[in-house]
Amino acid sequence: MKKWSTSFRIWHWVNAFVVMGLIGTVLLRETFLNSRENASIISNKLLEMGIALSGEQAKVIAKSIFAPMWEWHIYLGYLFGALVLYRLALFFTKSGKQSFCFKELDMHHKLVSAGYVVIYVSLFFMAISGLMIHFYEELGVLKETAHDIKELHEAVYNIILIFVPLHVAGVVVAALRGEEGLISKMVNGK
Ligand code: HEM
Ligand code: HEM
Repeated sequence: MKKWSTSFRIWHWVNAFVVMGLIGTVLLRETFLNSRENASIISNKLLEMGIALSGEQAKVIAKSIFAPMWEWHIYLGYLFGALVLYRLALFFTKSGKQSFCFKELDMHHKLVSAGYVVIYVSLFFMAISGLMIHFYEELGVLKETAHDIKELHEAVYNIILIFVPLHVAGVVVAALRGEEGLISKMVNGK
């Protein structure tokens, strides 16, 4: 069974919390802090009070309500960028390589590791694309190009959204079905 160094375990859990935090900011943006829906609530309520707002004005208010929450997407995004770089460095360690010694793995674990390759490529893409959209002016990227990158950033998000619950369910099932201590090995190394 695999063994994880302290630095790898720290990376795994910090990365897990940061990725879940990033997903959390997106879910809030799409639900309670959705600017389109909140703009219509604001203009309807103000209309009931006898104040008429244009759609654009209501949208400006709604956007300023969600903006402080969205700043967390950017802060977590910087941290996530650093974590991706740290993971690249960990590839040069025993813990960081062991899932990818395909020759030594049975069919089931080859498939699990292939899943890890897909998720690492996706995480790497999210870091690069996120930073490119955020700093598009400083990087000299055209607004239209930044918009296209944002569409890709959103599309690859779906891979991450599928991976996280599949991964958590997968490790729980594997731990219950014989791979005893699989989760505690990632928690305390034993
Ligand atoms: C909170 C619930 C989670 C639990 C209990 C958990 C547990 C584990 C365990 C036990 C492993 C080792 C599996 C093996 O031996 O192949 C693992 C690996 C991994 N986990 Fe998680 N994980 C969680 C959340 C996450 C999240 C949110 C991410 C974010 C992307 C993540 C990313 C990874 C990756 C990329 C690996 C592969 C490590 C490698 O071999 O390079 N995990 N996880
Ligand atoms: C696993 C990591 C990440 C996930 C899952 C994620 C997810 C998303 C999603 C789904 C959107 C579209 C939101 C919408 O328009 O409704 C988005 C937008 C964005 N993300 Fe990320 N992102 C990640 C990492 C990053 C990073 C590293 C940065 C850079 C600091 C970043 C910066 C941005 C920016 C600037 C936008 C556009 C915001 C706007 O148009 O108002 N993201 N992200």
